[in-house]
Amino acid sequence: MSSEPIGVMFFCLGNICRSPLAEALFRYHVEQRDLGHHFRIDSSGTGSYHVGEPPDPGSVRVARERLGLDISGQRAQQLASSHLRDFDYVVAMDRSNFSNAKRLRGSEQANLLLFRDFEPDEYHRGDDVPDPWGGGADHFETVYEIVDRCAESFLDYLCAEEGLG
Ligand code: 4NP
Repeated sequence: MSSEPIGVMFFCLGNICRSPLAEALFRYHVEQRDLGHHFRIDSSGTGSYHVGEPPDPGSVRVARERLGLDISGQRAQQLASSHLRDFDYVVAMDRSNFSNAKRLRGSEQANLLLFRDFEPDEYHRGDDVPDPWGGGADHFETVYEIVDRCAESFLDYLCAEEGLG
């Protein structure tokens, strides 16, 4: 097996609500399986509106309440062509942002995926992770539930694909 870590980039629009949770929950599941040294995990947004900002308070709260994780140190960044080249898996939270990423230079060569293609609930496979921005705590709870189960299922896929665990 290569000693290079596997690069996984999660992205949404603002990189303050959904993809920070995907980054944190995917890392949590990776660490639960003692696979941290195999991965390089990051998140970004296709928009630039929130670059440099910490995650939305709704995402910070749900990560702390549900899993005791502190994600307040994350800072939003914009998805760039260089990420498409430098990460092995570049994973969109919804179809609209998947389309945005397709417009970036180098997207033809990138391994662009839709997160909910790994949805264990087949009734919702291929759906968007709904945008909770501006919504109440219940919106962030819903996102947490979706992201948590899809992160674990995506990790199952990667372990099979990369021969880990
Ligand atoms: P995210 O949520 O893409 O999950 O980070 C949003 C954050 C900001 C905006 C939209 C969605 N916005 O329009 O500023």
